[in-house]
Amino acid sequence: MLERTFSIVKPDAVRNGFVSAILAEIDKAGFRIVAIRKESITKREAEGFYAVHRDKPFFSSLTDFMASGPLFLMVLEKENAIADLRRLMGATNPAHAEEGTLRRKFAASLQENAIHGSDAKETAAFEIGYWFAGYELI
Ligand code: RTP
Ligand code: MG
Repeated sequence: MLERTFSIVKPDAVRNGFVSAILAEIDKAGFRIVAIRKESITKREAEGFYAVHRDKPFFSSLTDFMASGPLFLMVLEKENAIADLRRLMGATNPAHAEEGTLRRKFAASLQENAIHGSDAKETAAFEIGYWFAGYELI
């Protein structure tokens, strides 16, 4: 059964010129890009998106980073999209990410780690609805 997940090409990857390389890998892995939008988000929008992390010590720095420049918001679709994108991304810390993963190839640090992907069905539904309206998701 087809599944949808939510992803962000983060501001570091945009700054470093990795957008088309990352999109090519996502395409090669069999995902359909259902929706994509380039946007410069505000700190407040980043805080709402990462609300689950609001009590973490890195929350303020993370939301500053997410608001630091343009990023690409995306909805991706394939069978097993949520788990497969997480596998393609690699570990949160690029130093621990496996060879061949997007974070290993394109990320420089634990915070500036190139890409976001939803971690479960419920978070994917929340995150897709946070950034996109129904009519954009055909
Ligand atoms: P994401 O939500 O962005 O896909 O990343 P993730 O699931 O792999 O990691 P998560 O634990 O959800 O953390 C969200 C983002 O916060 C930054 N982070 N900084 N100790 C730190 O400084 C730290 N830990 C996490 C990263 O940008 C991480 O992707
Ligand atoms: Mg996460």
